[in-house]
Amino acid sequence: MKVVGIVGSLRKDSIHRQIFNHYREISSDSFELEEGVIAGIPMFDGEGMDNEQVATLAEQISNADAVIFFSPEYNYSVSGALKNAIDWLSRTNPQPFAGKPASIVGASPGNVGTARMQYHLRQIGVFLDLRFLNKPEVMIAGVFNKVKDGRIVDEATVEFLQSHAKRFAEFVNQ
Ligand code: FNR
Repeated sequence: MKVVGIVGSLRKDSIHRQIFNHYREISSDSFELEEGVIAGIPMFDGEGMDNEQVATLAEQISNADAVIFFSPEYNYSVSGALKNAIDWLSRTNPQPFAGKPASIVGASPGNVGTARMQYHLRQIGVFLDLRFLNKPEVMIAGVFNKVKDGRIVDEATVEFLQSHAKRFAEFVNQ
């Protein structure tokens, strides 16, 4: 099973990139996780619709069995970088997200764990016809105590992500 992971933060030391890297190891018994890179995609302006990076990413997603978004919450919503990439991808033909199983992994330093962003992303997914896994939701709160030097150091979070990967693989198979 092949899953594309999209990291919604472009920050070099992004917590979500660190979680993505560790999650790739954690989930390796369940599926192969490869990154769908969004860094470098220009701002969508609706003018030139030909963008090589977007076309490659669209093909990568189309060829995968599923997609997982690793995204921060910015101002109670999806990061601009992720929304911009989705807007580009939504205008490609065939639409790569249509009917694709999907899940969200989000983490925040505060207590809400990106819940507000996740419900916005699920709403966007209605138009895209994404098939989001309902449960478990991955909303990691207090993340600055749980991720250190590129590793998830909180054992309960590692175990939870292992069980999420197993459940997601079952969902994709269904
Ligand atoms: C944030 N942050 C944040 N956190 C949160 O829980 N809810 C929010 O609405 C926001 N809003 C927000 C806006 C902007 C512009 C920034 C830069 C940050 C904090 C955010 O969760 C924190 O910076 C994470 O570390 C971002 O994830 P990455 O970039 O480390 O992966």
